Amino acid sequence: MPTAPRKFFVTTALPYANGPFHIGHIMEYIQADVWVRYQRMRGHEMHFVCADDTHGAPIMLKAEKDGVTPKALVARVAATRRKSLDGFHLSFDFWHSTDSPENVALSQDIYRRLKARGLVYAKSIEQFFDPVKSMFLPDRYVKGTCPVCGTRDQYGDACENCSSTYNAIELIDPYSTLTGAKPEVRSSEHLFFRLSAPEVAAYLKRWTAEPSPGRTLQPEVRNKVKEWLIDGDLADWDISRDAPYFGIPIPDAPGKYFYVWLDAPVGYLASLEAHLAKTGVDFARFLEDPALEQYHFIGKDIVYFHTLFWPAMMEFAGKPYRPPDNVYVHGFITFQNEKMSKSRGTGISPEVYLDLGLDAEWLRYYLATKLNDRVEDIDFNPDDFVARVNSDLVGKYVNIASRAATFITRHFDGELSLRNPDAAHFKERAGSTHVAWASRALIEEAYEAREFGKVVREAMRIADRVNERFDQAKPWELAKRDDAESRARLQDVCTDALNAFRALSYYLAPIAPTLAQRAAALFGIPRELAWDEIEQVADRIGAYTHLMTRIDPKKVEALIGLSASPAPSPAGGGASPPSAAAPSPSPPPASGSARTAQAAPASGKGSPDATRAQDATISIDDFAKVDLRIARIVSAEPVDGADKLVRLTLDAGESRHRTVFAGIKSAYRPEDLVGRLTPMVANLAPRKMRFGVSEGMVLAASGEGPGIYLLAPDNGAAPGMKVK
Ligand code: MSP
Ligand code: ZN
Repeated sequence: MPTAPRKFFVTTALPYANGPFHIGHIMEYIQADVWVRYQRMRGHEMHFVCADDTHGAPIMLKAEKDGVTPKALVARVAATRRKSLDGFHLSFDFWHSTDSPENVALSQDIYRRLKARGLVYAKSIEQFFDPVKSMFLPDRYVKGTCPVCGTRDQYGDACENCSSTYNAIELIDPYSTLTGAKPEVRSSEHLFFRLSAPEVAAYLKRWTAEPSPGRTLQPEVRNKVKEWLIDGDLADWDISRDAPYFGIPIPDAPGKYFYVWLDAPVGYLASLEAHLAKTGVDFARFLEDPALEQYHFIGKDIVYFHTLFWPAMMEFAGKPYRPPDNVYVHGFITFQNEKMSKSRGTGISPEVYLDLGLDAEWLRYYLATKLNDRVEDIDFNPDDFVARVNSDLVGKYVNIASRAATFITRHFDGELSLRNPDAAHFKERAGSTHVAWASRALIEEAYEAREFGKVVREAMRIADRVNERFDQAKPWELAKRDDAESRARLQDVCTDALNAFRALSYYLAPIAPTLAQRAAALFGIPRELAWDEIEQVADRIGAYTHLMTRIDPKKVEALIGLSASPAPSPAGGGASPPSAAAPSPSPPPASGSARTAQAAPASGKGSPDATRAQDATISIDDFAKVDLRIARIVSAEPVDGADKLVRLTLDAGESRHRTVFAGIKSAYRPEDLVGRLTPMVANLAPRKMRFGVSEGMVLAASGEGPGIYLLAPDNGAAPGMKVK
């Protein structure tokens, strides 16, 4: 392996700043972090950065819905990042935001350069406009009937029924999913990046064939790119959006903003720049260093942006900008072979994982066993997770140290049999240690190639051999004899096993860094582990302290239960669960009028079901007795002495605020509720409770299983509006 120091700039995709991390993000960060830690151990210069991706319509609209500014929403989400980054030992050197001065300056500079080269032009396009919200509608906010097959309620870009793609304005009976209004077709001038220019297309063909000397895209990625670039025609890229938009203003184009996907990857550079500024390194000189290697770890869904738009932007912006040396694409993490879905309540939550006290390195190790250089989905299977960690990581690797160290401490006062041996001599005579050292090149290659599954398999193969040899020597029998020869043999056997364990700890350090650090402490290595110390040998050990426990499967059950949906409890005034029909949250109204429950009563042909259905119906007048209003949650606090309840202060557009107690503590942190809109039963008789008077009821959905979901009105609703 080359040992000349290398210089790296590595990123992971910037997560959207509209919510906390999900397990897919954490998986991506773990993949990159393992690679980055390996390179650092090799002594290479590493700059590993990321940032929140803050701009775009969805974040703007979510902020509006929560009743906060986009900046406040983004800040709120940013405040949640540290916990998981630290908790999962993710060693980013810097975490920034695309809503930063660096990103504004860089995005505008890159744009100006592209424009100066004649690669930007303006063109008028026709687009749907929501007259109620006074904004142009991104495709995902328009629905209507498919112009090809006639299926209703299809999104503006493609039909889920017949897979046709079309222009949103071709939809039949279109409606805005934000307001339900019929959108108007309006024209507006947009700015385009000329991806179809011959020099750009030619450059992209070169870059995708060989992104940097001697490197290639992963085969699956290359095939995808070929479809877009060679078999198809590259369309020019629409890079502007009209106000209102949360984004970066386009120079000399009043009221126009960069489309979020233009400034998002520039965020990689903004984060790097802010990181370098801390140490006084010149940003431009850093980027222009021909020795620099730049890699982006990303998921399979964002390949287009990273293999076409991004290299083209960087190449044609010119120095000091540079296209990446490669992009490393991973598949998605699935849960028991299904897509993780918050709404269906499947999957695992990284925050819950940490809250339950599950060890981050169990997850890092488990994911490493599955990670490779291909674009394959990887599955989280709870039983497999427990088995891999308990029987391999703990049962094989940790086991070596706990067995051998005990003998050395008890019988030899920590002293190993080879005091300062020269390594060659040691290599020759020591079986297990030699076995471990022999895998070094294979493990280096596997790490470099992101074949972490291979690393783990090799490490476990070594651990198996070490344990076998140890068992064959029957140290427990040697320990019972007290002749000098048996004593020497016992010391040798344990010394050999422990030095093999020492090497294994280096091999596993990028994957389980704190475990490796604790293991190294046994050998008196107090600093960060450096790769070239692998073949040093220890001559004594310190006291053995417990390195890692096994997973309690009950905790994994809890993880799955709690991630899917928090424990059930009533949302009403502490009395009974809301029995009021709970309409699914925010379906787009088909017309201007809101839906009413049970509009069509059962016809009642005498079947038992029909009879029951009829018994259960109420008249519209009955329903109208319930005074349902939209309220904003002004404040929310836990209630002392009632661990299920949250005390809500609600603004329902009245002269005073109301206090309502809701049994939703298991599902929501009070501080996360502040600012939300929710329907409230306004004419429920006040109810005196131990903690105060509850003056209404908020509505939440729950099903057979655990889980409770507070209802939310669609965008545009305001406190005091009646729900009918
Ligand atoms: N903001 C953009 C990326 C901009 S990069 C300049 C974005 N954000 S995201 O939050 O939707 O996704 C961030 C990363 O997480 C992407 O690489 C994406 O592929 C990855 N994942 C999202 N869901 C995932 C899984 N279920 N499994 C693994 N990774 C997944 O896209
Ligand atoms: Zn269709």
